Amino acid sequence: MNDPLTLLSVLDLQAMKQAGEKITCLTAYDASFSALIDAVGIDIILVGDSAGMVIQGQPSTLSATLDDMVYHTRCVTRARKHAFVIADLPFMTYSTPQFAAENAARLMREAGAQMVKFEGAHIETVHFLVAQGIPVCGHLGVLPQSVNVVGSYKVRGRTTTDAELIIEQALALQHAGIGLLVVECIPAVLAKQLSQLLDIPVIGIGAGVDCDGQILVSYDMLNITRNKHPRFVKDFMHGAGSIEAAIRAYKIAVKQAEFPAPEHSYL
Ligand code: KIV
Repeated sequence: MNDPLTLLSVLDLQAMKQAGEKITCLTAYDASFSALIDAVGIDIILVGDSAGMVIQGQPSTLSATLDDMVYHTRCVTRARKHAFVIADLPFMTYSTPQFAAENAARLMREAGAQMVKFEGAHIETVHFLVAQGIPVCGHLGVLPQSVNVVGSYKVRGRTTTDAELIIEQALALQHAGIGLLVVECIPAVLAKQLSQLLDIPVIGIGAGVDCDGQILVSYDMLNITRNKHPRFVKDFMHGAGSIEAAIRAYKIAVKQAEFPAPEHSYL
């Protein structure tokens, strides 16, 4: 059990994987949600570039800028006492290792992020950032910032070739030094295989119950957003009575491996 008066570190999260304790994670973008999520005892707060959609009302995450992410991350870190905070590097802010390092440094130095996350298998960039003392979270599977290249948010890793590519990229990212890996919308069996294969924690969204931890966009699981939700979202607000109760129900469901159920997962 971690001391609730101190911040969680990446080592604490890795120890949770070793101990078989599921890791809970939610997004937040402001101080009020950050304080509430933290008080319930969620392990990780992700300041996601999903802010572009749920805060700015844009159709994709591409609208979030680095200044937006610094602002939201600063609001979140100011209000939390315990949770580990990861901030997303938004679209086109990690196109070279040097540029990524400068932008990640802003998220850490100006906003207090403990780790940065970026999408895809940018192995050289991971090496470079980790060598500068910048912890990195990888993100594989569906890559929302590439929606205009791919054309949709369709589940990844369903063919043998694609599943093998994701496994190969995950191993290369781990070897390059990432401390955590988020996998989005991949078949549950593939996510299970990755969680068993990697030493670092694998955090799933739409990736089945066998990941080392789970993440959802908080506005989705509280049913605040009016858009049609993807299959992997559960409405934890339903019958909860309060936002705090809904977040607590999510935490318990993840810790007890009751969420995601098969109906929230992909084959
Ligand atoms: O931006 C975000 O909220 C994310 C999660 C969906 C993993 O990257």
